[in-house]
Amino acid sequence: MTTTRKRVRKAVLPVAGLGTRFLPATKAMPKEMLPVVDKPLIQYAVEECIASGIEHVIFVTGRRKNAIEDHFDFAPELESFLESKGKSQQAQMVREISGGMHFSYTRQNEALGLGHAVLTAQELVGDEPFAVLLGDVIMDGPVAATRSLIEIYNETGKGAITVQEVEPEELQFYGVIDAEKAPGSRWGDRLLKVNNLVEKPKTGTAPSNLGVSGRYVLPPEIFEFLEKTKPGAVGEIQLTDGLVALAKNGSLWAHVHDGKTHDAGDKLGFLKATVEFALRNPSFGAKFRKYLKELDL
Ligand code: G1P
Repeated sequence: MTTTRKRVRKAVLPVAGLGTRFLPATKAMPKEMLPVVDKPLIQYAVEECIASGIEHVIFVTGRRKNAIEDHFDFAPELESFLESKGKSQQAQMVREISGGMHFSYTRQNEALGLGHAVLTAQELVGDEPFAVLLGDVIMDGPVAATRSLIEIYNETGKGAITVQEVEPEELQFYGVIDAEKAPGSRWGDRLLKVNNLVEKPKTGTAPSNLGVSGRYVLPPEIFEFLEKTKPGAVGEIQLTDGLVALAKNGSLWAHVHDGKTHDAGDKLGFLKATVEFALRNPSFGAKFRKYLKELDL
């Protein structure tokens, strides 16, 4: 028997956060606009959406975030200026930023947590499965992380989240899963059945070494769970609480990402991502490598 599932067409990108981990750079500038080499952080997430077949990106935004909207908007003056100077390749690059994607914006007026940000997008998402991507995380690897989650959803009809191995002392900064091996599938050991999750466990109490990376594909039922979620200890509605409800229903998979995860919302993570992407840059990567080798480290 074949079931027709609704396609995952939409992605929610919560971008209302104040970026306090990156002060002072983020005092007057959204952290999502910090450039890693030559692209703002948020563009990497939108490119992952494009590579995953997403058609509609919903930004959950806030005050002082207009630069994000401008970045994904048309820029006719800039394009014609570049064309008039014979810089048609650059004009093309500017045109392609939005990748033919449809963009919507909604505002999260209070900083009530990631679960609340997702709930804010409910009306724009409607009654269909959707992806969530945290824009300060850049996922690298042979297959776009969100694409893998969508494939898992398509085959099973259940929610899926990306996880990664995390150093013990770092687990306190993550949602951490309690999971078991999934029955045989084409994802092999990379697919796990989630039984429970703990958000930011106290040192020594984490149920595993697998932290939630910031990529989710969720069925619309998650909204019902989030609506019932009361703000937790820090006064926030956690997405993790909604995920726990899915897991308790036996409706949540975890996929161990095949590739690197860069937490570029953190200063050190940002620097590492910058160096790795710069080394791969076709026009100056080789020169940059030579420069790094010459540094007296
Ligand atoms: C959020 C989630 C957490 C996840 C993390 C990944 O936390 O609540 O479960 O592991 O993103 O970056 P935040 O980093 O926003 O505090």
